[in-house]
Amino acid sequence: MCGIIGGTGLDEVLPVLVEGLRRLEYRGYDSAGVALADGGSIWRVRVANGTNSVAELAGVARPPSKGSRAGIAHTRWATHGRPSVENAHPHLDCTGRIALVHNGIVENHLSLAEALTDRGHVLQSATDTEVLVHLIEEEVARGLALVEAVRSVLATVRGSLAIAVISADDPETIVAARRATPLIVGLRDHAAFLASDIPALLGQTRQLYVLDDDEVAELRPGALRVLTLAGAEVEPRALEVAWSLESAQKGGFDDFMSKEIREQPDAVANTLLDRLGPDGSLAFDDAELSAEELRSVDKVCIIACGSSHHAAMVAKYAVEHWARLPVEVDIASEFRYRDPVLDARTLAVGVSQSGETLDTLVAMREARNSGARLIAVSNVVDSSMAREAQAALYTHAGPEVGVAATKTFLAQLVALELLALMLAEVRGTLSHAEVSGWLSKLHEVPGLVREAIRRSEDVDAVAKALADARDFFYLGRHVGFPVALEGALKLKELAYLRAEGYPAGELKHGPIALIEPGAVVVAVATRNRLWEKLCSNVQEVASRGATVVVIADDGDHETAALADHVLWVPHADPLISPLVDVVPLQLLAYRLARLHGHDPDRPRNLAKVVTVE
Ligand code: F6R
Repeated sequence: MCGIIGGTGLDEVLPVLVEGLRRLEYRGYDSAGVALADGGSIWRVRVANGTNSVAELAGVARPPSKGSRAGIAHTRWATHGRPSVENAHPHLDCTGRIALVHNGIVENHLSLAEALTDRGHVLQSATDTEVLVHLIEEEVARGLALVEAVRSVLATVRGSLAIAVISADDPETIVAARRATPLIVGLRDHAAFLASDIPALLGQTRQLYVLDDDEVAELRPGALRVLTLAGAEVEPRALEVAWSLESAQKGGFDDFMSKEIREQPDAVANTLLDRLGPDGSLAFDDAELSAEELRSVDKVCIIACGSSHHAAMVAKYAVEHWARLPVEVDIASEFRYRDPVLDARTLAVGVSQSGETLDTLVAMREARNSGARLIAVSNVVDSSMAREAQAALYTHAGPEVGVAATKTFLAQLVALELLALMLAEVRGTLSHAEVSGWLSKLHEVPGLVREAIRRSEDVDAVAKALADARDFFYLGRHVGFPVALEGALKLKELAYLRAEGYPAGELKHGPIALIEPGAVVVAVATRNRLWEKLCSNVQEVASRGATVVVIADDGDHETAALADHVLWVPHADPLISPLVDVVPLQLLAYRLARLHGHDPDRPRNLAKVVTVE
């Protein structure tokens, strides 16, 4: 987690860094800080003000007098050491002449810190990061140039890192390095940049490059040199970016979440674009996986976390129904540590908006090491997961800045349904005409989602009526179950309300004991094959005093009669309905968050990209 940014060769470096931090806030905001190489010394400002850290930094940081042209900055999601000014980055070495920012975790920091203390260093923070700057200090004291010092230190540390370092002795140089945590670099005329993510640099340059693991970059005004850990110079890998700067900004909405919910029809439509290969069959974006290999698959294993895991659960129904293949869906952090049975006939699919979630990335590596074929479903082109996999299926949702997944969730659903159709096509479980029929239905989804969003005021009215409720239960069956889980997750993370998602049939095995007057039950009650059974479950909770909200197909008054409140959605085929049914649940969580006074873009304790275990 955390976001880092750096720039050199700039006449006004501070505003560029602060603006970049604003675009990286989705990665964490417990504290923020900036350091500039300022004519012979390091100038630094750090603040820790919860969700307002970057705004406060922007308010208090005034550029130093001596006209610095290079600097680094950081926005933090705390892992080691509580959120505080002392623990905020950039960290300085003992001389105060080297500054460093870090995203990731130094796993062997305790032993390194002990050894540094024995050698006379004074560590000022409780972070795992600070050891890095002291280790670099020692290498520089031995006479190494900054870039060599960083290379040498990388060999001694374990864990994940994206770092950027400046030194007062070489004030226009920034050294950056990456291992298992994203880092991009960019060039423009007489300037050079680095950042954790693309939106932070879009206002500066489109000439972007990705660093690979254990590569070290030396950035000077207008110049970039990339070295391997062994010191060999390598050509940096250019990055194609289709995103506009505007698409990474709020575009007139109050917050990113509102904007991103409204962008969902486009996210779905773009993910469906250009999917037919030259022979008319469905195709991946990047693939080293032949139709033959796909045909040989006898099991699918989908690995993901959070909302991506819910999308994976929906995919299970689609793959099993259309492609007639057994599907296991795993939470990545669990999958890594069990002993899954995989082989060359297993298709492992990693699903991740960011393509960087550490648990999913490592789980994918495990799957590949066990011989499985590997596909990544990611919203970021060339993300770590896309590079790990043999084939990538990109969700073309554009940048998602709001911490809670919305448009990327819908784009994942549609990408996974495409994957299910692809498998059905190569296996012959659906005819070409049937696949085309389903594709036509998927192409209707943007219109259905647009219609569901248009009804946001109806959702606002229901949210108002529920403003005092504290306990929510989300119920669904069949594909409605993962939708219920997603609705509950959105409510928890945005409105900080207790919300549980259950398969409705499971209620009677325990959770129904919690139902009493005051509890709210939100049932995903659009018509799938278990609709009648779900309605019985809804009656069971209604008769115990719960307030019932149903998501119902337009015109389905039979379902509406069971509820206190109805959120109508346009009808979609059951296997496609999650794409539509989840929209009012996103809007409900958004509105309840607002009614409770919470910022939906920056829920507490969360970060957008989770690169820690
Ligand atoms: C919830 C949410 C998270 C992510 C999860 C996985 O709104 O956004 O639960 O879905 O952290 O992230 P990715 O998809 O980047 O692997």
